[in-house]
Amino acid sequence: MAQQVAATPPMGWNSWNHFAEKVSDPVVRAAADALVSSGMRDAGYVYVNIDDAWQGKRDEKGFMQPNEKFPDMKALAGYVHAKGLKLGIYSSPGPKTCAGFEGSYGHEEQDAQTYAAWGIDYLKYDLCSLGEALLKQPPEVAFQTMVSAYMKMFAALQKTGRPIVFSLCQYGVAAVWRWGPDVGGNLWRTTGDINDTYDHMAEIGFGQAGLAKYAKPGHWNDPDMLEVGNGGMKPDEYRTHMSLWAILAAPLLAGNDLSKMTPETLAMLTNREVIAIDQDAAGMQGDRFWAEGPYEIWVKPLGDGSKAVGLFNRADPWSGDAPIKVKFKDLGFTGPVKVRDVWNAKDLGTMEEYTGVVPGHGVVLLRVK
Ligand code: GLA
Repeated sequence: MAQQVAATPPMGWNSWNHFAEKVSDPVVRAAADALVSSGMRDAGYVYVNIDDAWQGKRDEKGFMQPNEKFPDMKALAGYVHAKGLKLGIYSSPGPKTCAGFEGSYGHEEQDAQTYAAWGIDYLKYDLCSLGEALLKQPPEVAFQTMVSAYMKMFAALQKTGRPIVFSLCQYGVAAVWRWGPDVGGNLWRTTGDINDTYDHMAEIGFGQAGLAKYAKPGHWNDPDMLEVGNGGMKPDEYRTHMSLWAILAAPLLAGNDLSKMTPETLAMLTNREVIAIDQDAAGMQGDRFWAEGPYEIWVKPLGDGSKAVGLFNRADPWSGDAPIKVKFKDLGFTGPVKVRDVWNAKDLGTMEEYTGVVPGHGVVLLRVK
């Protein structure tokens, strides 16, 4: 039996959202350094994931070589491991990755062996060019081709004997949450790519309603990486992003430049109580509990019998603060509960209902017991 990986949603950093094709060995080392010096590693962020654009050409025997920006992958893995971190990499089941680099098609076993030999701990496997090929096949055939391609890489990873987190990326097509675990997925993207705007982040995050039952320890829905700290959203909006991802038991993969983050960004990413909601060992994803126009309440059950409750106001900020009321008996509690405001780190007292005053695009995140 392969060792259990991703018992809780993976946490770490990924190069794509900020660096895209500018990723390099020094960028990855700087991210690893910053994870340690900032305290993020100790808050749980341990995966340092290289996304697309590390690949060079295959050698004469077909083994993959990194490009000139990555002179020595094994040495890089050693550097990352010595800091108590883990290293992730990226490929595609197709012949080309999304950025046009060499994919793993026809070289799955060789690539898995190469990753294991380098000391890789996480693989994001992105459909990309295989998706284009699938469009030319009848739907049932296309589905089978896609499933087989993921199974093939999973088998190859298992054969290496190294525990490697397997991250499926095919943008949620064909309800991947229903079959992701069967092809070995520890997590699977449920949507297209996030970007650093409230509207798109909210479309993705609030669009996760109904998927909770598919998440469990070792197998997670992945609404994509974090944009916190990349500058496109206001603090209230980033708090909504973090709160929603925590309620969704989503992977927390920071996507900003860690070597240049502000204290506010760091505080948001490392809020221990928010992380505890995301990483709760029971592994129960939260879901939408109530919605009325732009006001929504999302609830995540936690292992100790408490619940995380997010009161979200999706209305435009110019519309002002909105009162959002939650009655705790509706959430299954009998009698009054102890309520804590998570972002303000404040115990609010014992009560049967609570009305949060929630700014537009903002959130009040509660932990109740
Ligand atoms: C796709 C993925 C992204 C990123 C890019 C890299 O768009 O969904 O997360 O990996 O490819 O090219």
